[in-house]
Amino acid sequence: MGDEPLCVTEILQALPENERQMINILNQIQQQKGYISREDLQELAAETGQPESVLQGLVSFFNSFRTRPLGRNHISVCYGTACYTRGADLLYDRLAGEMELDADGTSADGFVTIDKVQCVGACSLAPVLICNGDLEGKAKSHQMAGKLRELREEDAKRG
Ligand code: FES
Repeated sequence: MGDEPLCVTEILQALPENERQMINILNQIQQQKGYISREDLQELAAETGQPESVLQGLVSFFNSFRTRPLGRNHISVCYGTACYTRGADLLYDRLAGEMELDADGTSADGFVTIDKVQCVGACSLAPVLICNGDLEGKAKSHQMAGKLRELREEDAKRG
């Protein structure tokens, strides 16, 4: 895989015939590009003959699909049962309460996306969050404001 994400047509061509179920194709597009744009859906509709409205319906039905890019930082709070019973909602509320997030969980300045995910397989460390790809266990809600502050500082250094 090169630096440039594949276009929808290339993604389709790379998929074996027996893996071209629409959900799988949409997953592949999101994996390649980070989100599924309107243009991607138009290209997919043209390639597959599916009405664009049907594809849009699928994307909006499954909340794992994104229609906007992720923020520069990405925090996922595990909402699986073990994490939930150990206060995942408090973690999420503390994080999300620090800023205004849009429907996709992204702040208006693109600084961060905060979302909820299902069990990430580290239940013994509950409650768990994943911050920019790093799993953090036994997270404490009172540390969340500080975590966002640290990310802001790193963000500012990167310019
Ligand atoms: S429920 Fe959160 S890691 Fe399993």
